[in-house]
Amino acid sequence: MYKFTSNITLGKPLRSATTDDVKNEPMFFNSNLEFALKNGGTLTKNFLTALIKETKRLDWIIDSKSVMLMKGWYPCIPGFHHDDVPRSTENGQPIYKNPPYRSVHAMAIQGDPICCTEFALGTGSFTVPSKNDIAYKVWHPEVVEKIESGELVSFSAPMERIIYFDDRSWHQGVPSTGPGWRWFIRASAGTDRILTATNEIRNQVQVYLENPMEGW
Ligand SMILES: [Fe+2]
Repeated sequence: MYKFTSNITLGKPLRSATTDDVKNEPMFFNSNLEFALKNGGTLTKNFLTALIKETKRLDWIIDSKSVMLMKGWYPCIPGFHHDDVPRSTENGQPIYKNPPYRSVHAMAIQGDPICCTEFALGTGSFTVPSKNDIAYKVWHPEVVEKIESGELVSFSAPMERIIYFDDRSWHQGVPSTGPGWRWFIRASAGTDRILTATNEIRNQVQVYLENPMEGW
C-alpha cells in the first residue's frame, strides 16, 4: 500500500475580482514568473505579488485559465488526482517511489462562485497500481470511498484566496453549479517544468461537458 497525507494551507484573502476582470484576464501556459508578471492582467499580478510576499520563492511555473461555464460543465477533467508527480517514460504513469522531484503548488479561483475545486484531506492508504494500471483510475474510487467512510474529509476550495497544496493533495474538478465566469491560476514550484518554460499566452481553452445535449 501507499500511504498519502493530503493537506492544504490557506493564504491571505486576495483582492476581489469582477466578472469583467475574469473575462479580460490573459491566460498563461507553462510560463515563468517574469513573463506572467510582465504580461498578466490585474488578477495574475495580484495573485503573483501576494504569492511572492507570502513564500519568498521565485521559481514558479504558472498556468491559468479563464472560462465561461454553464451549469454542469467542468473547467477540467474530473477525478481525484495529484498535481505534477513526475511520470515514468516507460508507462507514462506517476512515480511515487523515489520520485526525481517533489512539487508544491499554489492556486486561486476568482469570479463567479460557481465551481470550486474539491480537495480530499487527511491520511489514507492506497492500492499500489500494477504496471498496466492507470493510477488515478484505481485511486479515484478509493478516495471517494474514504470520504464516505470519514477517513478523508471533502473540502471545497474557498474563492479569492491563495490555497497552498503539494503533490500528495487529492483534488478534482467539479461541475459548475450555474452559468458564470471562472478564473483559475496555479503556480508550481520545485518542479522540473521550470527547466522547460515556454511562456505561452493562451487565447483559446476548452471546457468539458458531461451531457452536451443539455446546453439548450
Ligand atoms: Fe489538478
